[in-house]
Amino acid sequence: MTNLSNRLVSLSLWVDKKDNIIDVGSDHALLPIYLKENNLCNKVIATDINQNALDSGIYNIKRSNLDIESYLSNGLKDIDTTDYNTVIIAGMGTKTIKEILSYKEKLKTIDKLILQSNKDLFELREFMDKKGYYLKEEQNIFDKGIWYSAYLYIKSDKKNTEEEIKYGLLNNKDFINHLISKYEELLSKIPPKNKAYKELKSKVDYLKVIISK
Ligand SMILES: C[S@@+](CC[C@H](N)C(=O)[O-])C[C@H]1O[C@@H](n2cnc3c(N)ncnc32)[C@H](O)[C@@H]1O
Repeated sequence: MTNLSNRLVSLSLWVDKKDNIIDVGSDHALLPIYLKENNLCNKVIATDINQNALDSGIYNIKRSNLDIESYLSNGLKDIDTTDYNTVIIAGMGTKTIKEILSYKEKLKTIDKLILQSNKDLFELREFMDKKGYYLKEEQNIFDKGIWYSAYLYIKSDKKNTEEEIKYGLLNNKDFINHLISKYEELLSKIPPKNKAYKELKSKVDYLKVIISK
């Protein structure tokens, strides 16, 4: 049985049995193996831009004896996405995720995106909103001393509110407290007259209101 990190297990909670999934930047292919091993999806492929990473995935897939195809590809460029409805992109920065999702024709059949970026989350939420995807759910996962935010996006006419795009869904009190202390620490290092101080202070004030509700 695959021993998966809390972060990757959390992503699997958004997968449905009917889903045909492309795991972009799969690396070791642990997530596709876990999904297949536990019969959580219909079909999943592992892809990566890097041959060495893909090779480690292929090695693990062979050992697992499961039916998972693997492809060398920069994002979705060399993948025929026609038969797939779900894309997972995890463990990458927002800049890379945006590049991968910039090929509109590759996303025609994709109505679900499971994203976990390591940074620039506001930029990612803004980008996804402009692309016409709706942030339906968010998980904040504490894994080996680090907080991760993961997003479930669906294709929808529904729009997220300005606050949701700016701050995310803010549905985890521990995570909000973590943000407040992180921002307060930053505030202590910025001169109060600085423009950045005002912005950060208003963020902290907003988060304190949310947490008191
Ligand atoms: C940190 S690993 C994350 C692995 C796994 N998705 C996870 O979350 O544990 C990032 C992987 O993404 C791959 N990657 C980076 N840019 C990519 C791109 N444009 N297309 C496909 N894979 C990419 C890297 O080669 C690497 O294997």
